[in-house]
Amino acid sequence: MDLTLPELPYAHDALQPYMSRETLEYHHDKHHQAYVTNANNLLKDSDLKGRSLEEIVVGSFGKNPGLFNNAAQHWNHNHFWKWMKPNGGGKIPGVLEKALVDSFGSVDKMKEDFIQAGVTQFGSGWHWLVVKDGKIAVMKTANGENPLVHGAKPILGNDVWEHSYYIDYRNRRPDYCKAFIENLVNWDFVAELHAAAIK
Ligand SMILES: [Fe+2]
Repeated sequence: MDLTLPELPYAHDALQPYMSRETLEYHHDKHHQAYVTNANNLLKDSDLKGRSLEEIVVGSFGKNPGLFNNAAQHWNHNHFWKWMKPNGGGKIPGVLEKALVDSFGSVDKMKEDFIQAGVTQFGSGWHWLVVKDGKIAVMKTANGENPLVHGAKPILGNDVWEHSYYIDYRNRRPDYCKAFIENLVNWDFVAELHAAAIK
């Protein structure tokens, strides 16, 4: 079965003023679609065809860079759209909040470390909250790389490719990373992934 582009879970203008309609039209409709199209073309000649997306991502890492980059970006963006919501940010569900305080000392410190990872990711990439060894940690990765290939379970990720913020923030990546964590994150979805990751 071919990989398919998911619908955005909200209207293209629903994340304004933090992420514009124009950004989502390019980012979802064009960039994400291109990853899906490229991955499907590369899967035609791969023995990973028909496997789950997670198996394709992990199975192609270090072996088939073209397929890996496009399939991982498909996984990353599928989650990215759900990691945001209109009127996001705000209160973090209790169990997750406690786990964040256990791991970072405070929610403010988690936010500070998360933003710092995004700001210091050199060039295109992602910054993450992951579950590894039972704790929540911050990671950053280059290009399409995903914590899954490093034995960590991503529960939140933000795209710091310029296509994600340049229309709205120009070169102000720190402002974009701050707006993401303060005003865009869907903490209920992060809490769901955290609960699954610690099972
Ligand atoms: Fe992206």
